[in-house]
Amino acid sequence: AIPVTAGPTAASGHAGDRRRRRRGSVAVRCSSAADERQALFSRIAPVYDHVHDVLSLGQHRTWKRICVSWSMAKRGDRVLDLCCGSGDLAFLLSQKVGLDGEVVGVDFSGQQLQTAASRQDQRWKACYKNIKWIEGDALDLPFTDHYFDAVTVGYGLRNVVDKPKAMQEILRVLKPGSRASVLDFNKSSSFFTASLQSWAIDNVVVPLASSYGLTEEYKYLKSSISQYLTGEELEKLATEAGFSSAKHYELGGGLMGNLVATR
Ligand SMILES: C[S@@+](CC[C@H](N)C(=O)[O-])C[C@H]1O[C@@H](n2cnc3c(N)ncnc32)[C@H](O)[C@@H]1O
Repeated sequence: AIPVTAGPTAASGHAGDRRRRRRGSVAVRCSSAADERQALFSRIAPVYDHVHDVLSLGQHRTWKRICVSWSMAKRGDRVLDLCCGSGDLAFLLSQKVGLDGEVVGVDFSGQQLQTAASRQDQRWKACYKNIKWIEGDALDLPFTDHYFDAVTVGYGLRNVVDKPKAMQEILRVLKPGSRASVLDFNKSSSFFTASLQSWAIDNVVVPLASSYGLTEEYKYLKSSISQYLTGEELEKLATEAGFSSAKHYELGGGLMGNLVATR
């Protein structure tokens, strides 16, 4: 398996009220809310891919392809998949940038990264050799400014405690003119869509998760969507962070959404 390594540059070491904790060779700083989420994602790591497949009837693969395509990543690029989890978007990015390019998957859950690394071992495509997995915090990315040609985030921003800070970090590591593509559940303002989403979580996701003993973990999903941002708020978040333009698109009949922000 590819080892979970430190990034190409040292973390910038911003001051802040978050605790600094060392795991492996990387310092990951976490608040208690972030600690809880980190533990949650480590607990669900073994079943995450299966639950996601069942929940979306496999549709998340299409949404992830769209997210990667809208990042405008191309052959030879150096790209970041932030909050990479078990690596779905990183594997797609790897095919886009090819062996001349480079993909970095960052997540703060070591368990998720171990799953990603073992999936990489089991897959045969030569280009997958271009992926590195790095344990790190979205709020303090271990890269220099203007390091990446594109950034993707799949179902990650919703879970990050300080979203404005995460957007600023994404902006910082992007090259001028390049894009961030951020896929997640859509916090819909349509009563019908919001009710359907809520019904599906209560009646499909939670019962399925319960069969793995993860009821409480998946109850968190509903509250995280209700505390997330609408498309309009996400566009505002991006422009306030300093992106020159931002547009949010609904996918999957409004159940999902993808923000495209250009630096
Ligand atoms: C729902 S999973 C999504 C995984 C993957 N991107 C996908 O689309 O399948 C969210 C991931 O975000 C990670 N995460 C949440 N907050 C983070 C943070 N502050 N820094 C790094 N990773 C974080 C979690 O560990 C988890 O693996």
